[in-house]
Amino acid sequence: MPSLIQKIEAKTARVVVIGIGYVGLPLVAEFARAGFRVTGLDKDAEKVRLLNSGESYIADVPICDIAPHVKSGLLDATSNAAVLTEADAVIVCVPTPLNKTRDPDMRFIVGAAEEIARYQHDGMLVILESTTYPGTTTEVLVPKLTERGAVLGSTVFIAFSPERVDPGNLVYKTKNTPKVLGGASPECLHVASALYSHILDKIVPVSSTETAEMVKLLENTFRAVNIGLVNEIAMMSRKLNVDPFEVIRAAGTKPFGFMPFFPGPGLGGHCIPIDPLYLSWKLRTLQYQARFIELADSINSAMPGYVVERTSEALNDHGKAVRGSKILIYGAAYKRDVSDSRESPAFAIIHGLKKRGALVSYMDPYIPELNEDGVALKAIDRGTHFGSFDVVVIVADHSALDRDRLMREAELIVDTRDALREYSGNRQKVYGL
Ligand SMILES: NC(=O)c1ccc[n+]([C@@H]2O[C@H](COP(=O)([O-])OP(=O)(O)OC[C@H]3O[C@@H](n4cnc5c(N)ncnc54)[C@H](O)[C@@H]3O)[C@@H](O)[C@H]2O)c1
Repeated sequence: MPSLIQKIEAKTARVVVIGIGYVGLPLVAEFARAGFRVTGLDKDAEKVRLLNSGESYIADVPICDIAPHVKSGLLDATSNAAVLTEADAVIVCVPTPLNKTRDPDMRFIVGAAEEIARYQHDGMLVILESTTYPGTTTEVLVPKLTERGAVLGSTVFIAFSPERVDPGNLVYKTKNTPKVLGGASPECLHVASALYSHILDKIVPVSSTETAEMVKLLENTFRAVNIGLVNEIAMMSRKLNVDPFEVIRAAGTKPFGFMPFFPGPGLGGHCIPIDPLYLSWKLRTLQYQARFIELADSINSAMPGYVVERTSEALNDHGKAVRGSKILIYGAAYKRDVSDSRESPAFAIIHGLKKRGALVSYMDPYIPELNEDGVALKAIDRGTHFGSFDVVVIVADHSALDRDRLMREAELIVDTRDALREYSGNRQKVYGL
């Protein structure tokens, strides 16, 4: 019988990806493109149905990356975990949210580990891709998958490799983004590298799974802290009557030693607001306070409130109160040109404005309705006259926003993204962050 490494080299290894969301779907598409027989295992019956009918439900993954492989029989999806019995390689891409007390919610990783253990057989490779605290692979996966006698690096191979998917990025996709990989033993790293070398241009091996876990948290903490810094620069600049975006763009001309980050209405998405808190939580268990992370979190979390303040100020300058004003939120997504509203600052801004008595609507070409976090709204038509609102607040600066029309029609604008910098017209009515 061929060994696992032989099967991987011959591309006869059967791959199962647990969780076919933003991270898992591009991954199954890459494995199928490379010629592997791959199955997406997901509890979400709708995702399974769509994938099996050759459709994509994630904007970054075009149908042409899915449909031909479903047709050829290389790619399919299921909700039945028994498919793991046939798996040679299992890649775990399940969510890692926070719970109500903002601590790591490990339910999905633990659940996936238990399912794999239930169908485990000799010669299995398991790679965790979900972002999590350093130590998860050795503390959760390794004990679970060796408790019934499997030998690490011999009959079971375990690794961690953080995903670096950047939704909406037109240049860097799964294949051409270098991938950090740490094995639970040298043999585990060797087998996992052999698999990934079929689908990725560059692998960056590191010495342990903890290192690989920490790499991801450094990357996202770096972003969260720098965004926290420029958000505070924005608030300080306004007090000094200086335009923070102009300051940052000018500083960005320095060809060395400076990297521009831009302020905004608050963090959003599945990664930057959440992942650093996995690290600070882990450090708390070691009696260490992750001060940069906590400070950045407190500044970034306060930004939606600051946007509410700026909007009140803008209305007040024009002789209006927030109470009773008609306010349009443009863009409910957490960032430009994506249809993802998870953790979007739009929710807190809508809550804050409503609490002050505003009549809030939203427009977003990618998100037809909002129904989470206590906000239930349907998007208004994209052609609605901007002048029918007392103020328009730009939260996500989608490319689809007709900026000329907005400048012409709107009475007052709060531009939290500096989306109108290049647009002429009455600048007096545009309030920056
Ligand atoms: N979205 C991103 O841009 C991004 C980027 C880098 C890293 N990550 C990390 O990758 C991980 C996955 O994120 P995502 O955005 O793809 O999440 P997602 O919510 O889009 O997809 C996760 C999927 O896992 C499924 N699932 C959960 N438990 C399951 C189980 N036991 N069996 C089968 N299916 C199960 C869910 O139904 C869901 O479809 C997270 O840890 C996240 O932090 C995400």
